[in-house]
Amino acid sequence: MAVELRSGLKYGTVLSFSAVLLAFWLRSPRSVLDERLDAVLSSLLRAERKVGINNVARPRVAIGFGGCVDIIVDGVTLLNKIGLQPTDQPLHHDYIENAEQLAQSFAYFFAPGAASERFVMNDTLFSQLVEASRELPGNRWSVGGNAPVMAGRMASEGCDVLLGGSFSPDFNDVLSQHITVAGNTVEEPDIHLILEYPSGATWGQYTSRRANRYIVHSDDHNPYLDSMEEFEKRLQNFKPDLLVVGGLQMMDNFPFKQGEREALLSHLTRILSSASPQTSVHFEMASFVDEGLMSDLLAFVLPHADSLGMNEQELPNLLSLFRGSNVTVLSDPNPRVATVLDQMRELYRMVNQRHKETATRRPLTRLHVHTLAFQAMIVTRGSQWKNTMSAVAKASLTANRHVCGSADIDTSKARLIMDESFSVSRREGSQRIPLQESRPVSCWTEDDYEICVAPVLVCTEVYQTAGGGDNISAAGLVLQI
Ligand SMILES: *[C@@H]1O[C@H](CO)[C@@H](O)[C@H](O)[C@H]1NC(C)=O
Ligand SMILES: *[C@@H]1O[C@H](CO)[C@@H](O)[C@H](O)[C@H]1NC(C)=O
Ligand SMILES: *[C@@H]1O[C@H](CO)[C@@H](O)[C@H](O)[C@H]1NC(C)=O
Repeated sequence: MAVELRSGLKYGTVLSFSAVLLAFWLRSPRSVLDERLDAVLSSLLRAERKVGINNVARPRVAIGFGGCVDIIVDGVTLLNKIGLQPTDQPLHHDYIENAEQLAQSFAYFFAPGAASERFVMNDTLFSQLVEASRELPGNRWSVGGNAPVMAGRMASEGCDVLLGGSFSPDFNDVLSQHITVAGNTVEEPDIHLILEYPSGATWGQYTSRRANRYIVHSDDHNPYLDSMEEFEKRLQNFKPDLLVVGGLQMMDNFPFKQGEREALLSHLTRILSSASPQTSVHFEMASFVDEGLMSDLLAFVLPHADSLGMNEQELPNLLSLFRGSNVTVLSDPNPRVATVLDQMRELYRMVNQRHKETATRRPLTRLHVHTLAFQAMIVTRGSQWKNTMSAVAKASLTANRHVCGSADIDTSKARLIMDESFSVSRREGSQRIPLQESRPVSCWTEDDYEICVAPVLVCTEVYQTAGGGDNISAAGLVLQI
């Protein structure tokens, strides 16, 4: 044993000595790569620091709705523990009724590594999953839900936040002092079960192509937006600079009574339409598959939003609804820049086309899409949104910080997966923009808007993917209000 160790050491010494020699003569490709990552990082940090947040007059942000307690587990470990066999039939289900559907639905999103969130319509099954997760070594509990995560990020970036949600008393204790809760007190908070998986994880014959998570929930409170009334009352005096709406996916495929969902959403419309012109409105998209709900969103929510945030799955889904087609459940989890930008242009055009036709609503002036490899934003020129370049840089840095679980970015745990240059559109003859290490955020103007794209230093030692979109979106917004 000792001998082995010694010879191992010796071998190691010889190796590293050769490595030094090699680096000296050749500069190994790895060190060139490292230098490139370091240069991109320091340029992004410089761009982020270029604008500060006004800490004296803290920006005021109101965020709804809901929240939950997340239990975060390793997805495959959990499924193995409950003895769920890998299915040979990956299949999409709008909601989950039994263990077989869970296996099929998980397999469907796990292999491509696409983010997904489904309602479990079977209390027995959901309780079993929660119980098993409680006992799983390495599980973690945290404050979850789009609204509380965005509220947390905004508060720690220097905002005063009004949060619409109904929480248990101990939940309120862990929230930042800069967050005021508007809502009811509940004894039993809703629980969301986060099945995380790293890139290259295997479950039976399936291997995940990238790190992501599959979320299941079986909420009692969140679908009813039951903090809405209290939130509405407080809103008038709070006078926010920004009003953010998220968490509406908890209504997806929920067994509402006839007319209940529409009533809730028209109440939301009243709140949004009475927001003062000085208050900007942002809507954060999510994993929706319920077509009835989605067309309600197009009618009740989108017309009142100045700004939209979403990921690479949610963008094609929303676009396909605008085009009058069905929902798109699964899209490429690693899309090219050109593809995403074309989709963003089309969405921006279609939303604003509707705006012109009806003339009573807010135009869409900001669209932020977060993907694994890059951040992209469209902002209307001359609109209220400032500092787009820095905001995109901050969004990009936040992606790494969140996924790696550390505020300090370590480039040895990061890589660039965006190409050395990207095409601004899939149209033939489109301009290509090189990714410059010293100026990694590329911004240019088209028509009446500016586009900015920033590469993400993709984290390779994943701590957590869930909540990433919320942290990223919130980080982008704080520099723009
Ligand atoms: C609900 O889940 C339990 C536990 O997995 C299962 O025994 C039962 O058959 C399921 N119910 C339905 C209606 O599928
Ligand atoms: C769209 O959805 C409907 C209802 O779910 C289905 O009948 C139809 O075949 C779908 N169309 C396409 C093009 O997928
Ligand atoms: C994301 O937001 C949550 C909630 O505010 C926070 O606990 C977590 O640390 C954030 N992640 C990062 C990297 O800031």
